[in-house]
Amino acid sequence: MKKKQRKEIYLDSAATTRQKPPQVLKAVTQYATAIGVSHGRGTYEAGIRANELVFGTRQALAKLFNVQRMDHIVYAKNVTEAVNMALKGFLQNGDHVVLSSLEHNAVIRPLNKLKAEPGIEYTLVPANSLGRLNPYDFEKALKPNTKLACLVHASNVTGNLSPLEEVGALCAKKGIAFLVDTAQTAGIVPIDMQALHIDFLCFTGHKGLMGPPGTGGLAVSPKWNLDSFIEGGTGSNSDKEEQPSQWPDKFESGTQNYWGLAGLKAAVDFLLKTSVQAVRRKEEALTGQFLKEAEKIKGVKLYGLPAGAEKERVGVVSLNIEGRDPSEVGFELDEKYGIMTRVGLHCAPLAHRTIGTHPIGTVRFSFGYYNTEKEIEKAVKALKDITNS
Ligand code: ALA
Repeated sequence: MKKKQRKEIYLDSAATTRQKPPQVLKAVTQYATAIGVSHGRGTYEAGIRANELVFGTRQALAKLFNVQRMDHIVYAKNVTEAVNMALKGFLQNGDHVVLSSLEHNAVIRPLNKLKAEPGIEYTLVPANSLGRLNPYDFEKALKPNTKLACLVHASNVTGNLSPLEEVGALCAKKGIAFLVDTAQTAGIVPIDMQALHIDFLCFTGHKGLMGPPGTGGLAVSPKWNLDSFIEGGTGSNSDKEEQPSQWPDKFESGTQNYWGLAGLKAAVDFLLKTSVQAVRRKEEALTGQFLKEAEKIKGVKLYGLPAGAEKERVGVVSLNIEGRDPSEVGFELDEKYGIMTRVGLHCAPLAHRTIGTHPIGTVRFSFGYYNTEKEIEKAVKALKDITNS
């Protein structure tokens, strides 16, 4: 007898969006079957179509984030790689960095490596126990040798949005470079790189952009230069044994992830057509619905901003159930209710220390464009069941 398939509710979009616009898979298949070759290598027709894809994806991303120079968008395999490229290509011995206490390991781990070699220093700007940052604390942390400020656009633990405008304006005024980790906001919250004075915009393709895993990139303001991250064949200046200096070739050695880029382009085109604002409105509504109901459940402790503050946060909600270990709750949500969440420290121990949930962490619910009100109702009902409310 065929096993009955259980109904699943996916509430882990902060880790990766599971459902993608149908155009994404179609574009991957189309690329693989109709083009399937490298760009910048062959002069045959398929090669030219591959060039068009690589160019067209950059063009779509430039439009989405209002990037000043399209050739300053460098592809990476995820936001972590983009952050590494920026930090390691930019910082030198003696430089000082300010960063928030909500940053992900993608930022703090490379910084700790750079602290040991070549020898940088950094200052953590603390958020309060609600996970809110005061932009004036960034100003207070600046030193004469501060070269860079790093800020996560929205915390992957609390969901709170950071004061990007204020910190961006401060950096621009002081001539400090500004790096923003948009892992939880790209494709969900409108981002204008130039208006926000962002110098290094790090993004991933597989979360809010709803593209394939293995895609992402770094958009850089032409104000700054970076060292290359890896060196090798670029299909350009092939007579030279040194890495070319022109962007983006300087950073894109080796064969690119064309299948991924085809999917990413389709995803970004979908977002440009649908509008990021429309995605935002939908996610705000789902988050508000969840928070309003979850706040009424006795025994549930929520972190981050409360219901009513949806404009200041994204659809990432951390909670704990009194007397229960988060991993046990996550297991029960999955096993009994088919609800997928992410538990523990979410690769962001700094953020958990800030809100007082280190080392056990939280149960994190995160909503995406394809979630429905019905699914939120079911998640709330499961929480009521688990807490016997
Ligand atoms: N950093 C991602 C998350 O928050 C993977 O789940």
